[in-house]
Amino acid sequence: MRAHRSRLLIAFAVTFLLALLAGVPGAPRAQATGEEPPRAALEDARKASTELVNGVRGELLKAIEVSGPLRALVVCKYTVPEIASAVSRKYGARVTRVSLTPRNPSLGWGDAWEQRVMMSFDERVARGEKPDAMEHYEVVAEPSGRFLRYMRVLPMVPVCMACHGPRETISESIRSQLAHDYPHDKAVNVPVGKVRGAVTYKKPL
Ligand code: HEC
Repeated sequence: MRAHRSRLLIAFAVTFLLALLAGVPGAPRAQATGEEPPRAALEDARKASTELVNGVRGELLKAIEVSGPLRALVVCKYTVPEIASAVSRKYGARVTRVSLTPRNPSLGWGDAWEQRVMMSFDERVARGEKPDAMEHYEVVAEPSGRFLRYMRVLPMVPVCMACHGPRETISESIRSQLAHDYPHDKAVNVPVGKVRGAVTYKKPL
């Protein structure tokens, strides 16, 4: 019994130390609470992510079919943020797309939590897990309250190639438009089957 209790104490001390070590001094940060989110909240996160993904895919495919990939760039630049804000308003959440290698540095970088989750997605895919429908969620505590955080992988699939594939296979017109609009573009040369980015959803509980 006593051995059991001291093991528990050690486990507690180690967890506490790790939590301390993980903390950035001076920067308030999200603490995982270890809580399971309410079912309905998690279902909303999944639904909102699906709405964003389907909305983007629909607009993208329509634009590519009707006017070609060059015109579809406009969808990614202007229509996607509109879809993301509409979904965000509908769910009372922040819903958007992020990446470890963003094209648009003003919208595309994730915060520290999102970057860690995307690194874990990369590792899971490298270990052979399928990226389709790969997700991660946590309830986190922040200075302004408790939040449900949810992310789902956006895998690199063939339709993304026209704008995120190997540089030499991207058409000249798209390449020059991308160079003009995104001089700091990091979102090319992504192999099919890898993680292009993720949908991220954050809502106060
Ligand atoms: C017609 C060209 C085009 C196609 C096709 C395309 N994208 Fe993009 N993508 C863009 C552009 C342009 C941006 C930057 C949008 C902006 O200004 O915020 C972008 C941004 C993104 C972002 C946001 C993070 C970042 O890099 O800035 C993700 C995630 C993303 N694309 C994933 C995909 C996936 C997955 C596919 C395939 C299903 C795809 N894209 C297909 C052009 C495209």
